[in-house]
Amino acid sequence: MVHSRILASLAVILAAGVAQAQESAVIIGKSTFNARCALCHGAEGKGDGEIAELFEVRPSDLTELAERNGGQYPFAEVYDIIVKGMEQRGHGDSTMPIWGDYFIADALEDRGVSRGDATEIAAGRVLSVVYYLESIQQ
Ligand code: HEC
Repeated sequence: MVHSRILASLAVILAAGVAQAQESAVIIGKSTFNARCALCHGAEGKGDGEIAELFEVRPSDLTELAERNGGQYPFAEVYDIIVKGMEQRGHGDSTMPIWGDYFIADALEDRGVSRGDATEIAAGRVLSVVYYLESIQQ
């Protein structure tokens, strides 16, 4: 009995911890989005950034990713697109930058960060943006 109660409260604490971590990730992701993505995708992610109209292929409305995928937010696909860019789409050259390399280079600029650590930092940054985008789905 005592055991199952302890396990139950542990589960609650763990769930709260995960929710908390996700909430922080969304906040970090939002600041990265504002700094790196809003210029093209717009402050609200609607694809209407300041320089959006310069592009032949317009930046996507990122609030419709779930809707365009049958109501399911395509978490892994969004992660992949941010890391690798969009060459897999067959659009030819895409204006969508490849952020994986950029975030790794950015992390490497901090002195004392190893290549392996920089990759982890970059992955975390991308992940936080993926969580943020999930939070703005319509
Ligand atoms: C220089 C302008 C520019 C910047 C900056 C930019 N994007 Fe994009 N993005 C685009 C364009 C243009 C497309 C559509 C490309 C295409 O269809 O080939 C796109 C497409 C995407 C897609 C694919 C959406 C779909 O339709 O499947 C995602 C996800 C995305 N961007 C996320 C981001 C994130 C996250 C950032 C910031 C880390 C970012 N973008 C920064 C221009 C940009």
